[in-house]
Amino acid sequence: MSTDLAGRRSCALASTGASGAIYATRTMAALLERGCHLELVVSDYGRRLLRDELGEAASVDKLTEFLIAKYGESVRNGTTTLYSNKDLGAKIASGSQGCAGMVVVPCSMKTLAGIAHGLSRNLVERAADVMLKERRPLIIVPRETPMSLPQLKNMVLCAQAGAMMMPAMPAFYQMPKTLDDLASFMAGKILSAFGFSHDLYPAWE
Ligand SMILES: Cc1cc2nc3c(=O)[nH]c(=O)nc-3n(C[C@H](O)[C@H](O)[C@H](O)COP(=O)(O)O)c2cc1C
Repeated sequence: MSTDLAGRRSCALASTGASGAIYATRTMAALLERGCHLELVVSDYGRRLLRDELGEAASVDKLTEFLIAKYGESVRNGTTTLYSNKDLGAKIASGSQGCAGMVVVPCSMKTLAGIAHGLSRNLVERAADVMLKERRPLIIVPRETPMSLPQLKNMVLCAQAGAMMMPAMPAFYQMPKTLDDLASFMAGKILSAFGFSHDLYPAWE
């Protein structure tokens, strides 16, 4: 993964209006703990799901404080730039930016369709499109059940274009005890895909 001017690893994270906002916050915290610079974009329904599922304290304008309170002071190791989803002139909308990886977590079926068909209607879709055209890592964490045939086909289209499809399907063999354990499992899978070592879930023995 590339580094920004501060020498930190720079990574884009988009959060959209699918259930599972806790997957996004755990992933944000894990990347920040490792000193990453986060290029963050949250769709309108992503903002709603953060508040609906995690409470008002997790609203986007208070997100850094929320992450520190929930996951600890080491979240301060990293930095974040928050973009409007309407800002198609943002840095991550361009292929010349140095951000080498992106995760969409959780990814709604609407955003999945937009990425699959290269629509670039907003910054989440455009930044994902940039990752695909530049052949950089794009991890998509869709959440819906059951899935329609168009939704399944959209996953195939994204995979064919080079994205890694990582459905929000935490495993149970690590004997999770809390919702945070389930979220950590998905965050760990995302970090592994980006090439980070971690102990977010127990190694399989
Ligand atoms: C409470 C709530 C939960 C939702 N859960 C999901 C979900 O799990 N998966 C999904 O694809 N859409 C879900 N939706 C619908 C999306 O939020 C909706 O399609 C929205 O337009 C997605 O826009 P976005 O991708 O720009 O965030 C949910 C909506 C609400 C209000």
